[in-house]
Amino acid sequence: MSFIMSSEPLDSPELYAQYHDRGGYHVAWTRVKQMSPVEVRQTVLAAGLRGRGGAAFPTAKKWELAASVDSPTRVLIVNGAEGEPGSFKDRTLMTVSPHRLIEGILIASHAIGATEIIFYINDQFGDSIRSLETALKEASCQGLPTDRIQLRPETHTYIAGEETALINALMGRPPQPWHKPPYPTTQGYLGLPTVVNNVETLAVLPLIFEKGVPWFIKHHPMLFSVSGDVKNPGVYEMPLGTTLDHLLRSAGGPSQAGIQAVLPGGFSMPWLTAEHFNANLDYETMRHLGTGLGASVIVLGSERSLYDQSCDIAQFFARESCGKCPLCVRGTRTLAEQLVLLGSNLTPGMIADLVQTAKKFRHKGICSYLDTAAHMVENYAVSLVAPSV
Ligand SMILES: Cc1cc2nc3c(=O)[nH]c(=O)nc-3n(C[C@H](O)[C@H](O)[C@H](O)COP(=O)(O)O)c2cc1C
Repeated sequence: MSFIMSSEPLDSPELYAQYHDRGGYHVAWTRVKQMSPVEVRQTVLAAGLRGRGGAAFPTAKKWELAASVDSPTRVLIVNGAEGEPGSFKDRTLMTVSPHRLIEGILIASHAIGATEIIFYINDQFGDSIRSLETALKEASCQGLPTDRIQLRPETHTYIAGEETALINALMGRPPQPWHKPPYPTTQGYLGLPTVVNNVETLAVLPLIFEKGVPWFIKHHPMLFSVSGDVKNPGVYEMPLGTTLDHLLRSAGGPSQAGIQAVLPGGFSMPWLTAEHFNANLDYETMRHLGTGLGASVIVLGSERSLYDQSCDIAQFFARESCGKCPLCVRGTRTLAEQLVLLGSNLTPGMIADLVQTAKKFRHKGICSYLDTAAHMVENYAVSLVAPSV
């Protein structure tokens, strides 16, 4: 069953009439317009929605922070950057279900009292841009208040997806993060209270108001981009808490002899190995296993080398560092070089060295980037000592 995505074929964007036929705009948005912003925020809090951009921050809490700032103007920024390797759920969603997303944007802007809405979109996503442009025109013709939504295709870099880097890019500055605080919710775009939300986070909002909080808590629909060594890579809509095993089977199972490991949260969250494939894909279980849910699920077949993949990831972080923070440039390079130099047959002493280097760079840097790179290397090194950890 598909709730977030249109059930139309993936190359065919859902039009206004089709979306309207499945309840679009006239159920959730009609209800939300009759509610106060506080009531909308409380409803989303009760539903337990967390951000789908990677950090899993409770959506209503972020909104509350921005709404509590005394300001005549607030800004909502839609994060359509989707630079995470292996992730294509946002691009698919923007292309296929633009109206579901637009309805979510209207709901969020009402909840925080946003007078300005900026939709940052990776300029390489031509199919999504065309689909959104058509949908925005259609919605406007139907009298929906979508003229305030400015679609801003921007040249993309990996770090530009980070919320403060993205705000800088939208203000015409280099897409580099700033050290928080100040948080965007208090001082963001042009110094105004700003909420940055991922497109999937916004697109699930109509469901909360259409079907109600108890339904949402029970079904909690979520998109998973599954790529790598499975027979049918793709975007799968499943409830939060689905077992990893079920997701992998839905994606056709392994395309190689077996599956060795899975990244449940893209390059930013450590590997899960076979003994955890029956784990539930929910925030608590993933945290307990030392990893997390994020933008993409990347599957590593049993014929590949975990060492090679770990080197690729470390090199990716070294290459994509935005260069603002010298420690990040040095740290990500050092981690990648050390991993490559030491090779795949590590002695206990080499493993200890690698862990020590990684620890040196944990919790450092302006944003979470260096910490993430160090965490991945540390996790790889530790897994060589205790493979089941
Ligand atoms: C290096 C880096 C890249 C990021 N890229 C994206 C991205 O492409 N899309 C996205 O929605 N969030 C991305 N994020 C997370 C955003 O900073 C932010 O947490 C998110 O857009 C907030 O939306 P949410 O609360 O709805 O998840 C990235 C974070 C980091 C540290």
